[in-house]
Amino acid sequence: MRTQVAIVGAGPAGLFLAHLLRAEGIESVVVERRTRAYVEGRVRAGVLEQGTVDALSRLGLDARLRREGLPHGGTRLSVDGAHFRIDLAELTGGAEVTVYGQQEVMHDLFEAAERHAMPIVFEAEGVELHGIETERPAVTYRTAAGEGRIACDFVAGCDGFHGVCRGALPPGVLRTFERVYPFGWLGILADVPPVDEELIYASHANGFALASMRSPTRSRYYLQCPIDERLEDWPDERFFDELALRLGPDVGERLVRGPSFEKSIAPLRSFVAEPMRHGRLFLLGDAAHIVPPTGAKGMNLAVSDALMLSEALDGFYARASMAGIDGYSARALARVWKAERFSWWFTGLMHRFPEASGFDRRMQVAELDYLRGSRAAQAGFAENYVGLPLDQDLPRRRSVGEAGR
Ligand code: FAD
Ligand code: DHB
Repeated sequence: MRTQVAIVGAGPAGLFLAHLLRAEGIESVVVERRTRAYVEGRVRAGVLEQGTVDALSRLGLDARLRREGLPHGGTRLSVDGAHFRIDLAELTGGAEVTVYGQQEVMHDLFEAAERHAMPIVFEAEGVELHGIETERPAVTYRTAAGEGRIACDFVAGCDGFHGVCRGALPPGVLRTFERVYPFGWLGILADVPPVDEELIYASHANGFALASMRSPTRSRYYLQCPIDERLEDWPDERFFDELALRLGPDVGERLVRGPSFEKSIAPLRSFVAEPMRHGRLFLLGDAAHIVPPTGAKGMNLAVSDALMLSEALDGFYARASMAGIDGYSARALARVWKAERFSWWFTGLMHRFPEASGFDRRMQVAELDYLRGSRAAQAGFAENYVGLPLDQDLPRRRSVGEAGR
């Protein structure tokens, strides 16, 4: 098989990239280790930045999102039970986030891929990359039908944190930066109406809690928990008792309880691998970087990487320009590191750290009180939360000599 771009991994990074390339008239083949049902069934992200929604619109894949997605113009923070609201839309000149689960996004991307007969090889085992330092790389794999080989111009490594592509860079090229947090998020899904129409991020002496949702009848709730916690120790009743406590009495008494149908613990990690390109191999999304979930940046970063790479590849195929390809890693990392910073900061602000002293807690509470009372601090929060632009630079000030020209 021959194509222009071989994409490893059919998660958000891989499928967004395949659709964006198709829109530019560039051919790709996606190779995925799992089944479609498995990829679509994974319960993960819930909040889309404005830029992610805009990308889906540009691709014409936003019909269901417009019907079923929940636009949020604000979000709430709670400190030991006292709440305040950050008006995202007002502080950013109209930007919003949209609550629409990653499962729904994946469903829409797979449906459209099927409609357009885009080639996706599922259940591909033993994926290997070849010749990434040459102009003729290839991807090989095995399926029940036998061995496969995709000869291509470029390989896009979209295979997540545990994939094979990052490891295909030669030793010594990659530098990695990592922080592992000493706690996890215990998350549940339950078919009960959400406790509030907006998300509530709660900082409490017992630890962090998040009240999120998937629809007007489906709630997504999280509690910070020790990393070695056992799910059996968290029956629904205990979960809701602790959630009510951390959200505080005003909100806690409105909480509608109901049986959970999904319960899992996710670890928290900050991780970046540099560079995001070597030869003809590009890394995108979780294959190159992980953020702790606080602030909902992970899937959105996968999408912004795909947007940047599709622009670079369009420059190559439409104008024979290498500029975008040579600039991809630096451009993507500039945005990745800012999202890493925001997610790390928001995690540090809201969680209880095992080694924290009384002084450390006072610092958190003082910073949250500053955020509550300062428009400048809220504006900084809001611009990061709704998603920074692909390329962020202050408008250039006119120098004195230019004035009046
Ligand atoms: P993945 O989604 O991991 O996709 C990689 C794909 O590659 C997978 O389908 C995998 O099967 C495939 N693959 C792996 N290895 C191979 C191989 N060897 N060969 C072929 N295929 C392979 N992000 C947000 O933006 N907002 C949120 O609210 C949010 N909440 C989250 C909550 C939780 C509990 C978790 C766990 C994550 C959350 N995230 C959130 C993060 C988000 O889900 C990820 O950042 C996102 O899925 C990354 O997309 P990706 O395509 O890079 O990687
Ligand atoms: C969700 C996850 C997040 O990490 C977040 O910051 C907000 C919402 C969610 O799964 O709904």
